[in-house]
Amino acid sequence: MPVTTQQLIQWKQQGRPIVALTAWDYAIAQLLDAAGVDLILVGDSMAVVLGYETTLPITLDEMIYHTKAVRRGIKRAFLLVDLPFLTYQESISQAIHSAGRILKETGAQGVKLEGGYPEMVETVARLVKAGIPVMGHVGLTPQAVHQLGLRQQGKTEEASERILQEAIALEQAGAFAMLLEHIPASLAMQITHKLKIPTIGIGAGVHCDGQVLVTSDVLGLSSKQPPFAKVYTNLRETITKAVQDYAVEVRDRKFP
Ligand code: KIV
Repeated sequence: MPVTTQQLIQWKQQGRPIVALTAWDYAIAQLLDAAGVDLILVGDSMAVVLGYETTLPITLDEMIYHTKAVRRGIKRAFLLVDLPFLTYQESISQAIHSAGRILKETGAQGVKLEGGYPEMVETVARLVKAGIPVMGHVGLTPQAVHQLGLRQQGKTEEASERILQEAIALEQAGAFAMLLEHIPASLAMQITHKLKIPTIGIGAGVHCDGQVLVTSDVLGLSSKQPPFAKVYTNLRETITKAVQDYAVEVRDRKFP
């Protein structure tokens, strides 16, 4: 049975941790889905595998193109897509247009957008009213890299209270889940207890209702990873060795 927003909320109620990872093409999506990942995010962190330095240059068309490929690889997981930078901040109608294109053209089940300031809360409310499931994203918001850097957020009492209030406001606006990025574990625990919707953490400690990582970090494909990522295998080394072995065999006329 395909995972739904209701299922994700039920898993929170049951205390069953949600497993999430990012994907950018058909092959990766198929592997993650078959391995039992619950939620697959076509994140704008895909910028890394496309060779960009930050998430800012990714376009809506690029997100749609990659999401269509990811969709073809998924049978069960919930498919979520990031709204890229400046495709939803300008106005509510811009956000509805961008999110609507994602849902209509790709078969994704929801969108994620960054920020919990009042205008964004209103945007989330309008998207939800239009029938578009939305995941909020608070704490470190990489689309604001030139304002926040990539540092941990919510370290002062004032900042942590602001993030808590943003998460509450986004839930009240109708978000079905909340991504908590790079905040202290104690704050993530407080938000997780306060919200009825599931929290998915990245660099936010063990108390979230689920965890997400960027798959290119998990697989050791990225040249550098954030401090909270865990590298489970080193595919850069594996691929380099395989390609070098192949090159040697071709040059020595051992292959074919
Ligand atoms: O783009 C992305 O991969 C994200 C991560 C925080 C999961 O949003």
